[in-house]
Amino acid sequence: MKPLLNVAAGESTATEAGEQEVTGEVLAIRGGRPLTGRVEVKGAKNLVTKAMVAALLGETVSTLRDVPDISDVHVVRSLLEVHGVRVEDGEEEGTFHFDPSGAVSAHFEEIDAHAGASRIPILFCGPLLHLLGEALIPDLGGCRIGDRPINFHMDALRAFGAVVDKSYEGIRITAPNGLHGANIELPYPSVGATEQVLLTAVKAKGTTELRNAAIEPEIMDLIAVLQKMGAIISYEPNRVILIEGVDTLRGYDHRAIFDRNEAASWACAALATDGDIFVGGARQQEMLTFLNVFRKAGGWFDVREDGIQFRRDGALKPVVVETDVHPGFMTDWQQPLIVALTQAEGTSIVHETVYENRLGFTDALNQMGADIVVHPRGLDTPGRRVPRRALEQAAVINGPTALHGADVVVPDLRGGYSYVIAALAAEGESIVRNVGIIRRGYEKFLAKLDMLGADFDVIG
Ligand code: EPU
Repeated sequence: MKPLLNVAAGESTATEAGEQEVTGEVLAIRGGRPLTGRVEVKGAKNLVTKAMVAALLGETVSTLRDVPDISDVHVVRSLLEVHGVRVEDGEEEGTFHFDPSGAVSAHFEEIDAHAGASRIPILFCGPLLHLLGEALIPDLGGCRIGDRPINFHMDALRAFGAVVDKSYEGIRITAPNGLHGANIELPYPSVGATEQVLLTAVKAKGTTELRNAAIEPEIMDLIAVLQKMGAIISYEPNRVILIEGVDTLRGYDHRAIFDRNEAASWACAALATDGDIFVGGARQQEMLTFLNVFRKAGGWFDVREDGIQFRRDGALKPVVVETDVHPGFMTDWQQPLIVALTQAEGTSIVHETVYENRLGFTDALNQMGADIVVHPRGLDTPGRRVPRRALEQAAVINGPTALHGADVVVPDLRGGYSYVIAALAAEGESIVRNVGIIRRGYEKFLAKLDMLGADFDVIG
């Protein structure tokens, strides 16, 4: 069996730099046609998968609504099933029922079969420790956008009283004396580590105080799910979350918050292709920061009862953007925005401050005619809103540049979406390979492109 953990690199799940998972599916895309029409977004990938894990904590059946048909959901469903959770499709599309009453320890081979497929397995730790007293963690997947260590997760679990054993086989976590409440301060407001603490603290003995927590809308929605289950969680000022542990939790019935990453992606697609897209299910509140930048970049939007319409408002304008944790500009929004900024009249700067390797996708945009220079150690521009981080990079985008077709390989989820949008904005034909990765986070991606009038063929 292959080693599950790069022990030499500490608590890291990094694989070889630049390694790419090839999932197949090749598109021939003929660009130059604006995308127009309506698409619907369902529940957020980054909430739905966590709410599915939360179902393990309940003593009765949980029901989750608006679950998108994406491969990250398939992976978490299979992992729940190997742990004995019965998952049934509901009557309405995107509704699932999770019955955890038969939950059991899974064999390592069954868990390992999901190695590398998603980052969610790490969040099974708390629920499995409460339920079974042990958790086994496979090699984690997710997009290769940096080292993506799990040290915050492991430190938090140890603070709750868990014992973490790293062996050549993987990570085995046990709680010989049960789990107790803890005082935890995260070194950075990590989304995953905040979720780890929430999913563990709700049933730990005593109170947990989490400082420097992430407060993304998807985390607030997870708190809502847990509260429906009977958890006692209060959200204090300054990124502090208090969790009073309870002995038992019940199942929930919850409609997932919409996917604001997908909504922002389609908004940028409208901007880049000079199209007009109505995103059904998108809401303003969770997208305020995005909408400000969208408007400053020359976008026009109209917020309606059932969604938001996006298009250009004349020529595109350059912007300076810094990605950040919520309520900042999300790291997942910068890739499709950069495609649109190649068409803006002037020089834009995008500082990536969340991950250390999330601008590599711009090489392919340059291959298509863009003029983007990446500064791997960031740029000290005056008037920064976000404190400079050691791992920061910056992209300087000079526009407008005519884009032309190219042969490119999708590197990761958001980068991949951007390649497709760039190909649609470009003159001539592009070949985009490895499009399967995009299914990790975009439901019915090809069907939606088709509905918006994109001109493409699946050729492999
Ligand atoms: N970090 C550590 N140690 C840890 C955990 C995180 O150093 O133990 C660092 C990371 O390396 C990174 C920063 O903290 O530099 C932020 O990472 P975070 O934990 O917040 O990210 P995540 O939970 O792994 C989720 C989303 C990402 C999204 C980020 C930021 C899921 C499944 N993934 O990742 O989504 O970009 O939060 O909002 O929820 C995507 O959807 O394409 C995607 C990558």
